[in-house]
Amino acid sequence: MEFKDKVVLITGASSGMGRSAALAFARQGAKLVLGARREAEGEALVDQIRAEGGNAVFARTDVTREADVEALVQLALSHHGRLDVAYNNAGTEGRSAEFAEQDNDNFDLVMNTNVRGVFSAMKHELRAMLQTGGGAIVNNASMGSEIGFPNFALYIASKHAVMGLTRTAALEYAQRGIRVNAVNPGLIDTSMQDRVWGGDVQARTGFTEETPAGRSGSADEVTEAVLFLASPRASFITGVGLLIDGGYVAR
Ligand SMILES: NC(=O)c1ccc[n+]([C@@H]2O[C@H](COP(=O)([O-])OP(=O)(O)OC[C@H]3O[C@@H](n4cnc5c(N)ncnc54)[C@H](O)[C@@H]3O)[C@@H](O)[C@H]2O)c1
Repeated sequence: MEFKDKVVLITGASSGMGRSAALAFARQGAKLVLGARREAEGEALVDQIRAEGGNAVFARTDVTREADVEALVQLALSHHGRLDVAYNNAGTEGRSAEFAEQDNDNFDLVMNTNVRGVFSAMKHELRAMLQTGGGAIVNNASMGSEIGFPNFALYIASKHAVMGLTRTAALEYAQRGIRVNAVNPGLIDTSMQDRVWGGDVQARTGFTEETPAGRSGSADEVTEAVLFLASPRASFITGVGLLIDGGYVAR
């Protein structure tokens, strides 16, 4: 029960890595404040957590709308009087296209979700954490924050930006009790990967084979790293992007 009575906020909680983390934090005793756009999935997750004896509330949250993320942080404060951990996980891959075919609509979609969304969330989370003496923020960036990837220029740029936000906030708040880190997943089996590859089994298999571990990862394997970075075990770790990529970037 490493997170007993800790208040943990997660964005994009309705699926994939966000959902995995919500269940894991709840099983460690945390009080969850969950945000996502899909209400039915969000409420179903709350029901599942409560059925397991856990504590969770949900609010419909579109991270591109600052008012929504501010309201989510306020929900943590009104319900529990504090915010201890925030996992800014919501993100979109946008549309794949080679660079010269990318357009401003895709730019706005990807940047508003992945960069503005994380920026707005962090701003309100930091304000809340400062009120109660500290906390830990974990952003879901990507191994794409360290490398390029063909046909995903805007996604890659957005994840580089998430690392910039992570490192800068880490420096600014290191002496005020707030640690700020990122997880940098590689190829992880979620609905995002299903969308990225579509039905192209050959391309997906090729990517898997290029991964030194010879396989894709699971959402739960990323969650292990998130819980570690959010916990006191990581008390001297701030400003890092922790790769969970089966060795992909090390090649
Ligand atoms: N799957 C991978 O291989 C992989 C690799 C590296 C990083 N990531 C990152 O992991 C995070 C989670 O993705 P996932 O793989 O679990 O896929 P996913 O599609 O299951 O989860 C993404 C979540 O973000 C939510 N989201 C998207 N736009 C949103 C918005 N405007 N407001 C609120 N929520 C929004 C989605 O609804 C969904 O719940 C993303 O930030 C993604 O970029 C994924």
